Amino acid sequence: MKKTIRDFNLKNKKVIIRCDFNVPIKVGKIIDDTRIKNSLETIKYAIDKNAKVILLSHLGRIKEESDKVKNNLDVVAKRLSKLLNKKVIFVDEVVGEKVETAISKMKDKDVILLQNTRYEDLDGKKESSNDKELASYWASLGEIFINDAFGTSHRAHASNVGIASILPNGIGFLVEKELKELDLTNIERPFTVILGGSKVSDKIGVIENLVNIADYILIGGGMAYTFLSAAGFNIGSSLLDSENIEFCKSMLGKYPDKIILPTDSIVTKEVSENSPYMEKYITDFDNDDIGVDIGHSTVKLFKETLVNSKTVIWNGPVGIFEMDNFSKGTKELLEILSKLDAKVIIGGGDTASAAINFGYKDAFSHISTGGGASLELLEGKKLPGIESILEKQ
Ligand code: 3PG
Repeated sequence: MKKTIRDFNLKNKKVIIRCDFNVPIKVGKIIDDTRIKNSLETIKYAIDKNAKVILLSHLGRIKEESDKVKNNLDVVAKRLSKLLNKKVIFVDEVVGEKVETAISKMKDKDVILLQNTRYEDLDGKKESSNDKELASYWASLGEIFINDAFGTSHRAHASNVGIASILPNGIGFLVEKELKELDLTNIERPFTVILGGSKVSDKIGVIENLVNIADYILIGGGMAYTFLSAAGFNIGSSLLDSENIEFCKSMLGKYPDKIILPTDSIVTKEVSENSPYMEKYITDFDNDDIGVDIGHSTVKLFKETLVNSKTVIWNGPVGIFEMDNFSKGTKELLEILSKLDAKVIIGGGDTASAAINFGYKDAFSHISTGGGASLELLEGKKLPGIESILEKQ
């Protein structure tokens, strides 16, 4: 068991909390603030305990100077301040005198958010490569380190792993909940996994790990067509991950009753917002058909498995849900899942966006805030951001 924020006396202490405020922003506006909202519990707890709260986060990827403008954390500071109903002191630098002065003036219960930690990537990728000197500098600003950035925990950055190697540390409430919800030991069965997304290659690790744990794996999304091709169907001009055909064949050969593939599909001749489409059985594809969503007989087939399941994890949309014409399968699955008498976990990333955007934000047991992080956890991998946190004695 990892140490948590509860294991520390935070009173009068400078507490650095690593959050994942990497939220989607369009023309200066936050379009989904779930990650900020889910960080509030830990931040409020530290304020209540009379800590001086120093928040760190990355936003986007900083490869050149011009990336700084669209990845400035000032919008996050404003939103956080609104959500906390409290002033958040935003320091628009992440190292240097301004930072040190602001911190030296802090009173108990003050909250400071420093600028995007990845601004330091312009200086030899120091944040992303876990530069020792940068980690020591950030660690010198506080006394206790709390990692609450689940979405970043598959990365070994200076602002998570680096600081944790220096300061006394623990996890925050958000990370604690994610680890509990995504823990696959002692799950109630039948346990069904829905996997989607475009490429088989992105999901090989998950399939290899979950095929030993799950009772059923339902496959949709772009990756389904490579499986269908491996099963001998003509998939027309659908996405084909030819390098992984052999992998799919071997999985279908070993687990014929566990892996369930679509029986029909929405097909189009062109992937665009207004292109016409129709539903076809998987046996009826023309050479120029492109599969873009699951059809209604597949939804029915998947439902037969889902209604009897006691635990469901969904990772990867089953169609190109960003386009209205190809979003029906994803929406119908969300509706079915929302009515199940089961523990339903949405595994982060695109699937989480779909659930939130289509109005199912509160319909499930858990929607993970981690995309890559939840995927790596489902692959059975150890996450460096979590591994670096102290165990309870
Ligand atoms: C995420 O959104 O998955 C995390 O914040 C990590 O971001 P990254 O993929 O840019 O490292």
